[in-house]
Amino acid sequence: MARGLFLTFEGIDGCGKTTQLALLSERLREAGHDVLETVEPGGTDAGRAIRGILLDPRHHALSARTELLLYFASRAQNVTEVISPALQRGATVLCDRFTDSTIVYQGAGRGLDEATILELHRIACGSIFPDLTILLDVDAETSLARARSRNRETGSEETRMDDEDGAFFARVREGYLRLAAREPKRIRVVDARGPVDVVAQNVWEEVNALV
Ligand code: TMP
Repeated sequence: MARGLFLTFEGIDGCGKTTQLALLSERLREAGHDVLETVEPGGTDAGRAIRGILLDPRHHALSARTELLLYFASRAQNVTEVISPALQRGATVLCDRFTDSTIVYQGAGRGLDEATILELHRIACGSIFPDLTILLDVDAETSLARARSRNRETGSEETRMDDEDGAFFARVREGYLRLAAREPKRIRVVDARGPVDVVAQNVWEEVNALV
């Protein structure tokens, strides 16, 4: 059987990717696809425990290197336990964030070396890389305001990254746009400022061209 397609969603906190991933998943299922959804960090029992450590504001003292290794520990387990088996059975895998997040948050954001990140990717994920990545682009201010008010409204405990300042998220957004310029075929930039259904239609057009 042919390997399934691996699609990822990327963007700064509050860009709307979780909503868009759910809408795309529904549309693909309606079209008859076997769809598997997963998330990073998370996706497995061990991954969810690692996510708890990473996003808990009590762990404000985590070093950038510890953070980097924990994101890859979660990813290694997700690839082994969930993503690879699903791709092998021919499923379409939708993943909320993947290694591009590490390249921009820990690389562009925290200043860690990209070559090291790519080497860790090889160790953790082998040759697994997305076939298509939807980058939901929105300015850092709008996005952050959305993410912070959502976290307040839902009483989310995953607020460690909320402590970063606007300059950090501006570096992350620029990092994403640089990555997209480097890999324009794989990474498709979708303007995320409009109404949810308009963004969803634009995402669908990018994905439909591939599936
Ligand atoms: P989420 O809110 O989109 O689930 O993402 C959780 C946070 O983790 C978000 O602030 C981005 C951050 N993150 C990284 O810094 N590096 C990574 O590799 C991943 C996957 C997420």
